[in-house]
Amino acid sequence: MDAGARIDAFAEVRSCIRRIAIRGLFGQRLRSQTDEIGRDLEIALHYTNTSPFLRFDHDLPFTPYRKAIRARARVDERVRQEIEKRRAEGGEHGDVLDALLERPCEHAGQDYLDDLEIRDQVISLIASGYDSSSTAAGWAVHALLTHPHVADRIREEVEQVVGDEDLNVEHLAKLDYTGWCVNEILRLYTPGVLTGRTTTTDIEFAGHVIPRGRRVLYSQYVTHRLPELWSDALVFEPERWNRDAPGYREPIPFSFVPFGAGFRRCIGYAFAELELRAMLAELVRRVELTSVPGAHVRPVGVATMWPKDGVPVEVAAVRL
Ligand code: HEM
Repeated sequence: MDAGARIDAFAEVRSCIRRIAIRGLFGQRLRSQTDEIGRDLEIALHYTNTSPFLRFDHDLPFTPYRKAIRARARVDERVRQEIEKRRAEGGEHGDVLDALLERPCEHAGQDYLDDLEIRDQVISLIASGYDSSSTAAGWAVHALLTHPHVADRIREEVEQVVGDEDLNVEHLAKLDYTGWCVNEILRLYTPGVLTGRTTTTDIEFAGHVIPRGRRVLYSQYVTHRLPELWSDALVFEPERWNRDAPGYREPIPFSFVPFGAGFRRCIGYAFAELELRAMLAELVRRVELTSVPGAHVRPVGVATMWPKDGVPVEVAAVRL
């Protein structure tokens, strides 16, 4: 990336976070295939994120549906081959795939997860592990460009805490303001806009009885913007997360739910928060970005709220 270049910051952070996800899952082993896996995942995820009214789920030639299922099948095949190789070669790689292969499993009389279960776990970890995080990262760039004073405060904090050292996990724990920014990004630009459950018993909610077996949807996007829950709900204000600030109000339970809640809460939340903190810190240290005049960043998507047409930026300076 050179100074003066015009790029889509969303595509850049997406590719970066995809590499992190693939490396976490497979160590260095699938590194050479990262771009191909990325291309196929993007095809499949774009289809998943299309409005149900525009979808045509029939396996016919040249349809986006066929392209999506073929792309997904190619990723499945790569993962299947890797599982097969590992089983044949043995050895330790210290990654998530190793952990899944060695994981005892107590259902259906099996000792371990079978290959299909492992493959499906891996695919769901790759997709959920990079789609939501990179979406938050894309919105983070947008938030910093539209709130330059916030970017300046992160830069000051990073200079104070990290200085010239390489960023490490101890630094990340001390980057309080940067952490508040991550929360504020996940509040206002929550990647998952809608989450659902099926009721397993009759439940009463707000004076209504919802019978057993009904689909119930709630929206993180709406919840995070309700004026009765958040003061100046639509204002991007990281300081609202500062517990030591006068007038600090602890968010009430279930008012901040970017990762869902309950038994099926996102399993990657701690990793994602740390990853976003690290990304913000490195971003303000290493590059200076400016908005492209006339570019409007708007949301789109049903599964994940992507920035429609990406986040176009100009690279003003690079400090590697
Ligand atoms: C900013 C980043 C992320 C956001 C906003 C996010 C959001 C969510 C949401 C809303 C759910 C549904 C929870 C529910 O139904 O209550 C979920 C589930 C899940 N997430 Fe994330 N996620 C993020 C990052 C990650 C990462 C990094 C991973 C993996 C490393 C991951 C793996 C998963 C998995 C496997 C599930 C399914 C859990 C289950 O059904 O039990 N997510 N996530």
